[in-house]
Amino acid sequence: MGLLSGDTLGPLAVALLIFLLLLDLMHRRSRWAPRYPPGPTPLPVLGNLLQVDFEDPRPSFNQLRRRFGNVFSLQQVWTPVVVLNGLAAVREALVYHSQDTADRPPPAVYEHLGYGPRAEGVILARYGDAWREQRRFSLTTLRNFGLGKKSLEQWVTEEASCLCAAFADQAGRPFSPMDLLNKAVSNVIASLTFRCRFEYNDPRIIKLLDLTEDGLKEEFNLVRKVVEAVPVLLRIPGLAAKVVPAQKAFMALIDELIAEQKMTRDPTQPPRHLTDAFLDEVKEAKGNPESSFNDENLRLVVADLFSAGMVTTSTTLAWALLLMILHPDVQRRVQQEIDEVIGQVRRPEMGDQALMPFTVAVVHEVQRFADIVPLGLPHMTSRDIEVQGFHIPKGTTLITNLSSVLKDETVWEKPFRFHPEHFLDAQGRFVKQEAFIPFSAASRRFASDGGRVLSSCADSDAVIFLPWSPGQGQGSPSSTSSPQSGLD
Ligand SMILES: *[C@@H]1O[C@H](CO)[C@@H](O)[C@H](O)[C@H]1NC(C)=O
Repeated sequence: MGLLSGDTLGPLAVALLIFLLLLDLMHRRSRWAPRYPPGPTPLPVLGNLLQVDFEDPRPSFNQLRRRFGNVFSLQQVWTPVVVLNGLAAVREALVYHSQDTADRPPPAVYEHLGYGPRAEGVILARYGDAWREQRRFSLTTLRNFGLGKKSLEQWVTEEASCLCAAFADQAGRPFSPMDLLNKAVSNVIASLTFRCRFEYNDPRIIKLLDLTEDGLKEEFNLVRKVVEAVPVLLRIPGLAAKVVPAQKAFMALIDELIAEQKMTRDPTQPPRHLTDAFLDEVKEAKGNPESSFNDENLRLVVADLFSAGMVTTSTTLAWALLLMILHPDVQRRVQQEIDEVIGQVRRPEMGDQALMPFTVAVVHEVQRFADIVPLGLPHMTSRDIEVQGFHIPKGTTLITNLSSVLKDETVWEKPFRFHPEHFLDAQGRFVKQEAFIPFSAASRRFASDGGRVLSSCADSDAVIFLPWSPGQGQGSPSSTSSPQSGLD
């Protein structure tokens, strides 16, 4: 036991400390690169973890932006992070350097939920073949189902009737619409993935919503941030399950729903929904180890659609309701346009938007003002890039402050007010705005201004399933053909 006697323990500890500090230095050498963005000095090992409250980073970030400018750096334990603020910086990174910023940081925690080399889902997939393959699949499938017997559009309008009926059932009593909005949106996603809808009191949809909510909370806790930054910690047996219990249960529920569809699948019939279409691809890809069509990925793709589509959409709809209550004049004009173009009898159709510039502008303004994904999802550089004169090395996590673009004071006339005129010209025609990026920009963005809203889910930093695809049919070229959309 001489080795661990008092005499040797001291030097051993010193050696260990030196080793750790060296390791730490190695991980932050990017800070000394010329023209690396400025930022607060990180502590050894912890980096800036203690300087920024990651559960509610807004106040500390605000201070940092005032002190260091629109592009600043942080050290999240051993991960270098650069935060981008304002239209100019975000556009330069995501649009101008779109190829080199479309990657995502490896989501270490998700490996414990089944995420792997050929099973990455869509939203958090690394920028590569598996993501490309799934994007293509989603686009084609969504287009095909749009042409099917019952198009997605019909599913949406039918669900909207059920939602209105449920609202009417409240008989004028005050209630929170959030739960019903979540269920209605889930049903639209379920129609796409399973061609089914749940009654609003079905225990499974209640469970699905509860788990989604709890799973979302798990994204933001501190332990989660630490294990993400130091993934080695996840080797501690049982830790991963402790960090994301709700997300694990959510995946188990998705597995159940998929298993049900597999049981009722009739292989002689054409695919009923996205899950069937995916299973056909799995069969086709049998024996091809390169393919991302496998059972492990199916559950992730379906889970992505639910987890990213549901909350974003229902939150936006809740904002829309609130803003209509707060701005009765706007509500009146929207109602008037609806009455004129659609009337009180038939259901709305996508094509109606072309004749409803005011309503379309209001939908855009709701999304801009509500600003529901303020920091987007993190990107990662796959090559050294230059942004606003700063050098950002390969492998840096990028946080794009979408909020700073949606409320950029140099772009918008009244950034902090609800002002539908932001999207209208003097003649009352709808106008697009470059700074309208509620769901990020370029390759990973959600193409909010063309084609079906759904058709772009494969690309987005978040997914939204609004009954209205904002901006469609305004005589503007479809985003699918623009070089920046990343859809081609
Ligand atoms: C993002 O921008 C908003 C508005 O400019 C600001 O309040 C917030 O602190 C910024 N967040 C980060 C992470 O820089």
